Amino acid sequence: MNRVLQIVTVPFALVVVMILASPVAIGEVQPSDIQPPSTSTPMPGASTKQSPASANQTNALASTAMVILRKNCLNCHNAEKKKGELILESREALLKGGENGPVVVPGKASESRMAQFLLPDADPHMPPKKQLTDEQVATMRAWIDDGAKWDGKALAETNVILHASNLRALPTSYQPVLAIALSSDGKKLAVGHANQIWVYDVGQTNHSILGKLEAHRDVVQSLAWSPDGKWLASGGYRRILLWDAQGMKQSLEITNLIGRVTALDFTPDSTTLIAADGAETRSGLVGVWAVGEIAPKATWTAHNDTVLDLKVSSDGKLLATASVDKLVKLWELSTGKEIARLEGHSGHVLALAFKPDGSLLASGSADKEIKVWDIKTKEQKITIGRHPGGVNDLAWTSDGKKIVSGCEDGAVRLSDEAKDNPEKTFNTATDMLYAIAVTPDAKTVYAGCHDGMVYVWGTDGTLKEKLGGQNSDKKLAAQ
Ligand code: HEC
Repeated sequence: MNRVLQIVTVPFALVVVMILASPVAIGEVQPSDIQPPSTSTPMPGASTKQSPASANQTNALASTAMVILRKNCLNCHNAEKKKGELILESREALLKGGENGPVVVPGKASESRMAQFLLPDADPHMPPKKQLTDEQVATMRAWIDDGAKWDGKALAETNVILHASNLRALPTSYQPVLAIALSSDGKKLAVGHANQIWVYDVGQTNHSILGKLEAHRDVVQSLAWSPDGKWLASGGYRRILLWDAQGMKQSLEITNLIGRVTALDFTPDSTTLIAADGAETRSGLVGVWAVGEIAPKATWTAHNDTVLDLKVSSDGKLLATASVDKLVKLWELSTGKEIARLEGHSGHVLALAFKPDGSLLASGSADKEIKVWDIKTKEQKITIGRHPGGVNDLAWTSDGKKIVSGCEDGAVRLSDEAKDNPEKTFNTATDMLYAIAVTPDAKTVYAGCHDGMVYVWGTDGTLKEKLGGQNSDKKLAAQ
């Protein structure tokens, strides 16, 4: 009878099942998503009628407050450390207070010491060496005013479902998009927004968000889909996460890395993951993992400085690495043996792309040039100049016809491997582009920008859409 109600109800039930079934599930951003992860068991099917808006807001407030506590306070205020004799791991402990007595008066933020300590000029100031954003402080005050309700699940989980209402507390619009990755079928676009990964359904014209993974504690540096579409790998500071693409669940965490994981790629058969790691300005390491294993099969020092990009050739035999040391190197992937050293750039080499047939490799550099190398002869074939800034990312269209570059000046350019200047420059984005991806049909280019947005261009150069940041907040709010 009521189609709308049905459509809304089904995904809600699904989301609830996901929340209950898995601590690391992520939610689909659906209208029902204003339902927060509740600790009580909601009754599927009855969802849209019940839960008046005020109850939703309360629970969203509690879960947002819990995320703020977990990220900013729990380190020092847990059962083990209890700084100031204050434990913030349960509502009982919070109400008990610290060495100087109660810290919150539920319902009265203005009379709560905890709320006062969050203000910029407070003494003592909490957290001691950091200032929460105005929005976070406002959230904490609103939460106390609302009775300091508890959400133990949100407090405990490191991968809680993020809700549209919670997201407003995060400065999503000011975070540069350093990494994007398009699945090989061209249907899912993963985008690093600060420490989260947003996965867009770009197979559909409305580009809805399939999920938001609260992935890393810091900025997502690198992303890659396995060619078979089963895995998404993400790299942050000293951490690689492997996500099961089907359920959008974290499946594996690789730690014990040395520094930022600046680049990731899979072999064409999807069995092997390769990552760039290393101590900034000192070493550029390459690590090779059998997918699913935590211990690497091999690691080696590929460069004496940070490796900024790496790519596996389409036959899976060669690995190319690009580094701050201005070099591009080719490696035999199975042995880690250096095959060639491609010298020519006069700046950091920032990006690499193999031509799909494996005959050529393009490299982009801070020297504002693209160089195209012949894989057989290891010789430089051509230099494609006239970029006004560094070439931050490169892709080769799957038909092999065009090299697509994302540049510091905010422009995407199309180049031909045989011509020494770019053929076409798209309307520029407002700021530097860090990462690009091209659809398999070579018709659409996605580019992650410093302004926190993903720009979507047709290969004719027209700007079709911008994804992320405030735009998508508006989209979410409108739902
Ligand atoms: C780096 C450690 C650290 C972090 C992080 C931290 N605190 Fe504290 N907190 C302390 C210490 C130490 C004290 C004892 C007072 C002092 O010496 O400044 C304290 C005291 C307090 C007190 C007063 C207890 C009393 O009875 O006097 C409150 C309230 C408090 N913290 C709340 C918070 C909140 C809320 C956060 C997160 C937004 C937070 N703290 C984050 C270390 C920390």
